[in-house]
Amino acid sequence: MTEPILALKDVTFTYPEGSVGLMNCTLAVPRGSRTAILGVNGSGKTTLCLHFNGILRPQVGTVLFDGQPLTYSRRGLKTLRSRVGLVFQNPESQLLSASVREDISFGPMNLGLDRSEVRARVEQALATVDLVHLANRPVHSLSFGQKKRVCLAGILAMQPEVIILDEPFSGLDVPMQRDLNATLADLWLQGITVVICSHDLDFAYEWADHWHILAAGSVAASWDQRQIPDVLPQVAALGLGTPRVAELYRELLVAGYLPPLPHPPRSHSDLLAVIRQAHQKIDRHPAAVQ
Ligand SMILES: Nc1ncnc2c1ncn2[C@@H]1O[C@H](COP(=O)(O)OP(=O)(O)OP(=O)(O)O)[C@@H](O)[C@H]1O
Ligand SMILES: [Mg+2]
Repeated sequence: MTEPILALKDVTFTYPEGSVGLMNCTLAVPRGSRTAILGVNGSGKTTLCLHFNGILRPQVGTVLFDGQPLTYSRRGLKTLRSRVGLVFQNPESQLLSASVREDISFGPMNLGLDRSEVRARVEQALATVDLVHLANRPVHSLSFGQKKRVCLAGILAMQPEVIILDEPFSGLDVPMQRDLNATLADLWLQGITVVICSHDLDFAYEWADHWHILAAGSVAASWDQRQIPDVLPQVAALGLGTPRVAELYRELLVAGYLPPLPHPPRSHSDLLAVIRQAHQKIDRHPAAVQ
């Protein structure tokens, strides 16, 4: 197996007022993967994200990027953040500058790139998140969803190897969620490792190829996608519920409407395709249902 691109080894972090953020947390993010970090509110997802790009430093244990422990010097953190981009849960915590274009150019300027390179990256990032028409708007005048897209564009302009998104879908309407989904699919196809922290099990079921489940700051379980259909009762027992597509497929299977499949449907559209296929079979061979 290749070296994980990011890893935590026995990391413990307690906030100054005493609440536990992470407790003996050990996990690895495979290079090139789509990794979901799942957990109920307060389980440590945001604390974990802040460790991945060095905003928080473990009191015990080690965070590794590319097999090497993070260095927390100014230069070490600057290099790390050019390679590991974090889109914050709350866009207000991330946006700094007056206008959208200025905000997105902040990161690449900080890397010391020349002006034409910065301009090219910013224009490309604006286009990717469909914000060209808002490029000169003051950031504070944007809607919540638009601010979230500015944050993503700021990270894209850094051209990182890993993008971590903390609750990226919360507060986005359905078309914006669909657009973000398509953007993430493109990024992953370009070879970028994508990590998403969420409690949205339906999204994880459809999208992720690796799952880590946090509970009270520790890793309660780590699975890859092939294992997921068999461990859904354990996922539910960890307080995350059951993916709707999996639940519906199981009901239809038990009732005899759908056949057992080697690869159960992971998305709503896959499930619809399976149902339609079963319908066509019944139409062609009505005796099969008697
Ligand atoms: N700035 C902070 N100061 C003190 N305690 C904090 C702080 N941030 C988080 N915590 C505590 O650390 C624990 C983990 O919180 P964290 O925000 O990492 O969870 P989360 O899984 O991201 O939750 P959510 O799903 O609500 O975003 C919680 O008990 C929380 O109260
Ligand atoms: Mg959080």
